[in-house]
Amino acid sequence: MNYQNIINEIEDEIQVYFKEGKVADYIPALAHINPNQFAMSIKLLDGTTYNVGNTQTKFSIQSISKVFTFTLALQLYGKSLYKRVGHEPSGDPFNSLVQLEYENGIPRNPFINAGAIVTTDTLLSKYQDKSFDYILDFIRTTANDFTINYNKEVYSSELEHGFLNMALINMMKSYKNINNDLEKVIQTYFKQCSIEMNTEQLCHSMLFLANHGVNPINNKILINEAKAKRINSLMLTCGHYDASGDFAYKVGLPGKSGVGGGIVAIVPGKMSICVYSPKLNKQGNSLIGTKALELFTTKTGLSIF
Ligand code: DON
Repeated sequence: MNYQNIINEIEDEIQVYFKEGKVADYIPALAHINPNQFAMSIKLLDGTTYNVGNTQTKFSIQSISKVFTFTLALQLYGKSLYKRVGHEPSGDPFNSLVQLEYENGIPRNPFINAGAIVTTDTLLSKYQDKSFDYILDFIRTTANDFTINYNKEVYSSELEHGFLNMALINMMKSYKNINNDLEKVIQTYFKQCSIEMNTEQLCHSMLFLANHGVNPINNKILINEAKAKRINSLMLTCGHYDASGDFAYKVGLPGKSGVGGGIVAIVPGKMSICVYSPKLNKQGNSLIGTKALELFTTKTGLSIF
């Protein structure tokens, strides 16, 4: 299969969609990003990489960071993590408060904001003030790139405007599902969201999920096979919030999006794919990114179904 030709074709075919969607302006530092960008990278298990578009442009990984923190927390706590965060789709927007109240402060899954905040809280219980350094170091290790860092402007912008996330954390605290200082938890969560990477780095960092938990390039074991299976399952069922069903229906791969405009998708046993385009659909997922991945699995037949 000629992957380079396929992604070149996709770049041509997505152009018509640039008039649709809207960048994430609820985070003021992201509101002025050039909306007309597109990048797509593929990395095969043997390291062969295919790129098209702005693949060296770094963007805010936002909720894609939740895959890394969930991996760390699952490694640390195993099944007992599920006492504090579930593994069912929520069917609600990523920042919704509603379900959290009638489910007594236990978020449905680790990929909605409430679930990711609890996940980060569990890491704080173990690593305390070193938590963010630990998360960043893990991401750098998965990507084998120690230049990766967070963007201070995006971080401060979220901290200043993160009223809904503050409401989520306060509600969970009232149900005793947050154990650490609220400010420290939310700061760590916003820092992880403001980490910047490009599509090639994200492909490299997630390749372990296409290979039973082992990075195939340096043979580093990042998580065991059973847990890698669970992470992929949750990406399939919950990775796109209330559009997870739609993403599974159209693309048919485990995937995780972020409001920065990135989506990472996994083809088990074969490759990782990362797409970047900052205009979002109504559910806060990259509109063109979703379209590009749909075109990819249609053209290649590489969905898991
Ligand atoms: O907490 C927030 O709202 C953002 N830092 C992350 C949300 C996000 O990326 C949702 N994804 N599509």
